Amino acid sequence: MSKMIIDTDTGSDDAIALLMAVAHPDAEVVALTTVAGNVALDQATRNAKTTLRIAGRPDIPVFVGCDRPLVYPLETATEVHGDDGLGNVHLPDAGIDSQPEHAVLALVRLAAESNGEHDLITLGPLTNVAAALAIDPDLLTRFRRTVVMGGAPDMVGNVTDMAEFNVWVDPEAAARVFVAPGERVMVGWNVSMTAGLVSPDQRKAMAELGTAAGQFAHDITSVVEAFCHQELGIPFFSLPDPLAVAIALDDTIATRTQSIGVTVGRSAEARGATFPTHLQPDAPATDIVWEADAEAFQAQMFAALSALP
Ligand code: BDR
Ligand code: CA
Repeated sequence: MSKMIIDTDTGSDDAIALLMAVAHPDAEVVALTTVAGNVALDQATRNAKTTLRIAGRPDIPVFVGCDRPLVYPLETATEVHGDDGLGNVHLPDAGIDSQPEHAVLALVRLAAESNGEHDLITLGPLTNVAAALAIDPDLLTRFRRTVVMGGAPDMVGNVTDMAEFNVWVDPEAAARVFVAPGERVMVGWNVSMTAGLVSPDQRKAMAELGTAAGQFAHDITSVVEAFCHQELGIPFFSLPDPLAVAIALDDTIATRTQSIGVTVGRSAEARGATFPTHLQPDAPATDIVWEADAEAFQAQMFAALSALP
């Protein structure tokens, strides 16, 4: 049984990732922590709760975290995910209370309680984790490992030429996380664009599963599908956060990894870039996922959307 804490800026792909984690027979989602990113913090928290309601798991505690990056003003991605972050479905409030403890303090506490058994999965900017590291510099060593959806180790970004959204939004936070002691896996934008793709037919198939979760996954991805088609001219979209969760749940989905240091660019031109540090063999290492099994990813996702209500 793998126990996990998921930090999320809940946009549309985060929501599908959360469904996959909750549905997996061998996983227990211990807590969600929310952070500003794809959408403002209030909306991210609301969306996390909506997703738990759809999954039939309103009992999973939700801790509210940081409402802006450490240094830069918040930049959201509503053009990609919809004004509500969930494809403009505007579902009613889930009626779930947030926990009174701040997400940063919850991360420090849950890490201490983990006994090295829990995984930390991050699906948004790394602000909460960096703030928790300021309190407990060994935070990541207390988890079994940290799986980060973020970065573009091949230097092909989705916000700038070089930078991926989660790292670009809060590069100061990411820089702290990538040098912290502990086991770390990076599921970057690169591998989502090879193994995490969804075609229009595959998206339709989500709705045809006949479950509320499948319909939800279909509906909340309408804006990202249209964005990729109209703005980028590509007939598919990618699901980076679901791929990160899939790899966290099943290591074998990552078919080629490289253990190497990662430096985060913080100059104006390189903001949010993630450079593999091939000339610094002693740098704190991250397992960068370079290749993953697209079919196994799809199978896990569809199994989850079928198994849920
Ligand atoms: C990442 O940014 C967000 O838009 C997605 O939810 C994912 O976490 C991809 O760059
Ligand atoms: Ca995300």
